[in-house]
Parts: sequence; structure tokens; C-alpha cells
Amino acid sequence: MHLYGTQKVNENGHLQIGGVDTMELVKNYGTPLYVYDVQLIRERARSFKHTFEKLGVRSQVAYASKAFSSIAMLNLAEEEGLSLDVVSGGELYTALAAQFPTKKIHFHGNNKSREELLMAIEHKIGCVVVDNFYELDLLTGLCSEKDCKMDILLRITPGIEAHTHDYILTGQEDSKFGFDLQNGQAEEALKLSLESDHVNLLGVHCHIGSQIFETTGFVLAAHKIIDKLHDWEKKYSYFPSVLNLGGGFGIRYTEEDVPLAPSDYVEKIVIEVKRHTESLDLPMPEIWIEPGRSLVGEAGTTLYSIGSSKQVPDVRKYLAVDGGMSDNIRPALYEAKYEAALANRPNDAVEEYVSIAGKCCESGDMLIWDLPLPKTNNDDILAVFCTGAYGYSMSNNYNRIPRPPVVFVENGEAQLVIRRETYEDIIRHDLPYNVNVQS
Ligand SMILES: Cc1ncc(COP(=O)(O)O)c(C=O)c1O
Repeated sequence: MHLYGTQKVNENGHLQIGGVDTMELVKNYGTPLYVYDVQLIRERARSFKHTFEKLGVRSQVAYASKAFSSIAMLNLAEEEGLSLDVVSGGELYTALAAQFPTKKIHFHGNNKSREELLMAIEHKIGCVVVDNFYELDLLTGLCSEKDCKMDILLRITPGIEAHTHDYILTGQEDSKFGFDLQNGQAEEALKLSLESDHVNLLGVHCHIGSQIFETTGFVLAAHKIIDKLHDWEKKYSYFPSVLNLGGGFGIRYTEEDVPLAPSDYVEKIVIEVKRHTESLDLPMPEIWIEPGRSLVGEAGTTLYSIGSSKQVPDVRKYLAVDGGMSDNIRPALYEAKYEAALANRPNDAVEEYVSIAGKCCESGDMLIWDLPLPKTNNDDILAVFCTGAYGYSMSNNYNRIPRPPVVFVENGEAQLVIRRETYEDIIRHDLPYNVNVQS
């Protein structure tokens, strides 16, 4: 069993996180339950930030809040000196409710609405990452109406896609995001931005993928963009102050995953950007990154109660838990893999392989296939590891299942930061259909 962050097996033989016995958590908050190891989040944040500081490079580390957005999480991000990446009015609203410093908020998204952009303008957020011509036009129009100027980055698709160990060079990037570097759209957006009195072009942004274990893709993307910036500098006498290289730094879900440490990603990228800009006699831009998964993923553990089981003779044993694709849709959505153990007796010997089923009415609602476990009973609690990113944030009410609560643990203390949904919450927005009011 691989233990993450502050996890350990305590003197009671139970899994402990943040100095708190998971059996205590189950007793106090029930199951399913998301548990976050706050110290591990802090360590990750500091590791990214300190590496930039050590290398003497101006930077911003923006937490990609799509990975897990909640008021408490954003309080923690602020406390650790992070900036914030939001992608919707809802994520921005959460940041405002958390009183996150608005100047440190960056607004992403490929279809920001007029209302969302107005919200960004009204609250004077740090910058809008402009994704397309429609948005550039909409934003400059709104800023003109409001007689203001918004700092922006242009999202560029550099023609590099990276995933885990592979990166693909794509001639013309077929993506719904950003301005293409090859076909001239990025240059056109640059010209329009420089001509506008209502936007101030801070720099450029790219995001090449997710769960990336190497630095080659980041370095290639940075090289391509810097080469283009070199051309643009000669043509337009403009060089950006910011180069944002996005998120996508990988984490360990299973033993097959071997990610780099946050410091290794940052060091390699910064050294290469420095080397390349120097070789072209260009200034070193400020480097921004947007880690999501790598800040919170390994810090999250989901605790489930074990319920029914079904033995299919000579095939497999299914073990069902009291959650599933409603609290973790990643296995059903893209066959994401997880490891798990019994939280109440993690050191007991493995006796069989079982497949962990969710309780939703979908055959595809399987959390883990072929998990090695001791023989289980209905008092057992299953801990699924590494559920901190895109778990709660992608949770849903399929089958009208209430969302589980979230608890933060640190230094032996547990704090409820999102309460469990109730059945009343489930019908909160429902209205009856009054058959007598038909037009
Ligand atoms: C623009 C952008 N930045 C950052 C992220 C965060 O990625 P990750 O959670 O893999 O670090 C994403 C993820 O989709 C993204 O689209």
C-alpha cells in the first residue's frame, strides 16, 4: 500500500490522515466522505513557489480551481500565496465569496458570457485569458462601455499535445481552445490586442495537456512560443512580460504512474526558457503556471462503507460501496485507475481480488477493477486514494444521490468544509407541475 502525505497506519491499526484516525472521521461525518490532507496541499504549493524563488524568476503559481473549488480550499490557496485560475462565473463567484484577492485571479474559458466578463470587469480581476476573436471583441466592447482597460493574456495553441509520457506535434492544432500559432490566428489576435485602447496585453498562455510525467512537452511548447515572440518583437516591437505555461503536472494514482516532483518540473522549464530567451537576446519573461491536480489530487482520499457483494462464479467478485460515479466520475468517464485499501485494517493480508462497484444504476459505474483486499464484511471502510482532483468538482446528483461532505484534516484536527447534501437539497430547485395552468 502506498501512503501519501501524512497518511500512516496508527496504533489502532487504522489509516490515519493529518493526525486524525479515519475511523473517527467516519463516526463523526459518515460515508461517503472526502478527506483532504491540508499539509500535503501546503507542501505541494510551497514546492512550486520556492523553486521559482530559488531560481530567482518572477512568477505566479495559480491554483487551477477547477480541480477542486470550495471556499475553504481557496482560503488555503490564498494563505499559501497562490494566484487563482477560474473558468466560469461560478468559480469566480466562489473566489469572491472566499474573499480571494481579486488582482490574483485569472479568468479562463472558451465561451465566457457577457455577464461573466462584466463580473470580471466589475471586480477588477487580475487578468482575462482571452481564448478567441469573439471574446476579444466582446471584452474590448464591454471595457469601452465601462471606460476601463483589462489586463489580458492570449491563449495560444502551440501545436503540441502532451499526455503522460507522450507528446504529439500537431501541425495545425485541432482544438476548441485558443488562437492557433501556425495558421496566423495568434498573430492576428496579437495585432488586435495591441491596437485596442481597452486591453493591455500582458503576455501569452498555453496549456498542453494533463497528467504529464515529463518536461519535454512543456519545453517544446515554450521554445515554439518564444521563437514566435522573437519574430513578433522584430515586427511589432512588442515582447510580453508574462509567459504562462498552464498546468498538467502529473501525479501518482497507481504504481504505474511515476511523476516528477513539482520542483523538477519547474526547474527544467525555467532553465530552458532562460537558456532560449538568452540565446535570442530576449528578456526573461515572468513565468506563470496553473497546477490543479498536482496541488490537490494526492491530498484527497474518499472513504466508503462496503455494502452488497456478488460472486460471479469463475469470473469475479463485485463489492459495492455507498458512492460511485456520483462522487467520482473519472473511472466511468475515462477509465481512470485508482488504488484503495481497508481504512479500518490496512495491514491485513490480501486474500482475494475484488472489483469495486458504485451504487449508481449504470453497469459502467465501476470504481476499481481487480483490487487486492482481505476478505471483507459490512463493518469495513474502503479508502480510495488520490481522489482530491476532479472528484468533488465533477460530482453530480445522478440517481438523486446527495453529494458527500468534505473534511480538511491537519495537525490532529478535522474541520468540515463542505456539508453533506440532504434529500431536501436534492429537490431544492424542483417546482410542481400544475396541470391547471396550461396555456
Ligand atoms: C487552462 C488550464 N490550466 C490548468 C489546468 C489544470 O490542469 P491540471 O489539473 O492537470 O494541472 C487545466 C485543466 O484542464 C486547464 O485547462
